[in-house]
Amino acid sequence: MDRDYWNRISKNYEREVLSVFDNDLQGVVEEKIAAAGVAYPRGRAVDVGCGIGRFTPLLSEMFCEVDACDFTSVGLKKAKARCRSKKNVRFYELDITKDSFPFEAVDFVFCVNVLIMPSLDSRMRAWWNVANQVESNGTLLLVVPSYESFQMEYYHRVLARIGDGESTGSAVKNCIDEKATAADMRMGVLQLDGVRTKHYLKDEVEAMVRARHFEIVEVRKVKYPPQGDSEFATWDWLVEARRN
Ligand SMILES: C[S@@+](CC[C@H](N)C(=O)[O-])C[C@H]1O[C@@H](n2cnc3c(N)ncnc32)[C@H](O)[C@@H]1O
Repeated sequence: MDRDYWNRISKNYEREVLSVFDNDLQGVVEEKIAAAGVAYPRGRAVDVGCGIGRFTPLLSEMFCEVDACDFTSVGLKKAKARCRSKKNVRFYELDITKDSFPFEAVDFVFCVNVLIMPSLDSRMRAWWNVANQVESNGTLLLVVPSYESFQMEYYHRVLARIGDGESTGSAVKNCIDEKATAADMRMGVLQLDGVRTKHYLKDEVEAMVRARHFEIVEVRKVKYPPQGDSEFATWDWLVEARRN
């Protein structure tokens, strides 16, 4: 999940990735952006890991100034094109696991499905960087893949096979992802379309956020429709938190 990987994905983002913007069934993320815009009149926002800029125009409409960053030149080019008419957005190419943000902490930090790198070391550096970018009394909006959702999908797949007449042993074996190591499973690093991707338990992401001196405002599901040949709906965790 390095820069080359994300540059490749960004070329066909809509086809390669479950876009939160396009699949958020209840419009929860959009609703949160709108509410934050009202809570911080004349506020400043950051779109961390903006990708191809699906959410950046919404942020631009609700905030006075928006800084959007990503480490992919391909994603940033598309994001800039999407925001051509938005004069209050600045773009930065930076790697949040290594570079510090070249601008001040802001009122609203928006970070959707970015803290998903499999390396704990990289992830922690990225997370601390993101957390420090939230001004005191500012708001963090984090969306991360749900471990529980992944687990429920597995459970449903096993039961469906048993329903189709398979033995329990064979259903379990046929649903197990053989590439996943025990260490990865322990760390919530699960295979998503063959790519090692960090997933979070609800309690885990809450603890992570609290440990950086945030007060949790709300944790809820961002629900998605079933994808591909799956009949099961999935969800990510959305965390809204206020910096003390
Ligand atoms: C799943 S996409 C989400 C894009 C966008 N937030 C959205 O929801 O539409 C993850 C984004 O995080 C960016 N990203 C991943 N690791 C990064 C890093 N170390 N520094 C900066 N951006 C990173 C990727 O380039 C990609 O655009």
